[in-house]
Amino acid sequence: VDDADNIAAMGRAAQDAGATIGVLVEVDIGMNRCGVAPGEAALALARQINATSGLRFVGLQGYDGHLQLLADPVEKRARCLEGLEKLIGTRRLIEQAGLPVEVVTGGGTGTWEFVCGFPGMTEIQPGSFVLMDCAYHVVRPEFACALSIRATVVSRRPGQYVLDAGSKAISQDFGAPVIKGRPQDRVQRLAEEHARVESADSAVRVGDVFEVIPAHCCATMNLHRTCVAVRGGRVEALWPIEASGRYD
Ligand SMILES: Cc1ncc(COP(=O)(O)O)c(C=O)c1O
Repeated sequence: VDDADNIAAMGRAAQDAGATIGVLVEVDIGMNRCGVAPGEAALALARQINATSGLRFVGLQGYDGHLQLLADPVEKRARCLEGLEKLIGTRRLIEQAGLPVEVVTGGGTGTWEFVCGFPGMTEIQPGSFVLMDCAYHVVRPEFACALSIRATVVSRRPGQYVLDAGSKAISQDFGAPVIKGRPQDRVQRLAEEHARVESADSAVRVGDVFEVIPAHCCATMNLHRTCVAVRGGRVEALWPIEASGRYD
């Protein structure tokens, strides 16, 4: 949480349900999304949680999402450590005020190794490394891209081909996807059900099947209901993506 009203509402809901909810205070360590400022503002919320029946103050979250895709590892490390100093400084302030801090969580696929070795952090929270995407792969080549969209060539002409998968199947919020194993090809545009791909390869035929690696795995998974798990060219499982597209 990062808001006093939210804490009060959660407390009422927990009391009504006869439950106890463990709560983390979110600290803004530079991303400028959610979170209170490090230091006194976070301590005030921790005290409020501690004083609210139905709630239990568990610790702090500080996510450095603004650093994940930074290309320069030296700059990334320096800025990441700067944010962590603020987060752990806040931990120490809360502990000095007499409140135990069990959990301090942060980091992602782009910053995990700086975060997990930092004294006072108890948890890292990377997610993208599991599936990866072509945007992350540029800065994190040690994680292979497992996720792709299988698409068929439905039209071709000199200099380009068209695939039967577009923005309804491939998220483009982090940029253009790439075609697996075809570094010379360039995805020029995603329409709803089509991807137009620039390619000098005159051997491409209608019916050819290619794999498209999206630039954002998280938002792409949200567009599908099932993930086909393949190992060594064999389908091993069908995984339902139970939360995809759902806000109910
Ligand atoms: C708060 C928070 N933690 C962790 C993650 C996972 O980070 P990554 O995708 O860099 O692995 C995200 C991703 O958006 C996030 O918003």
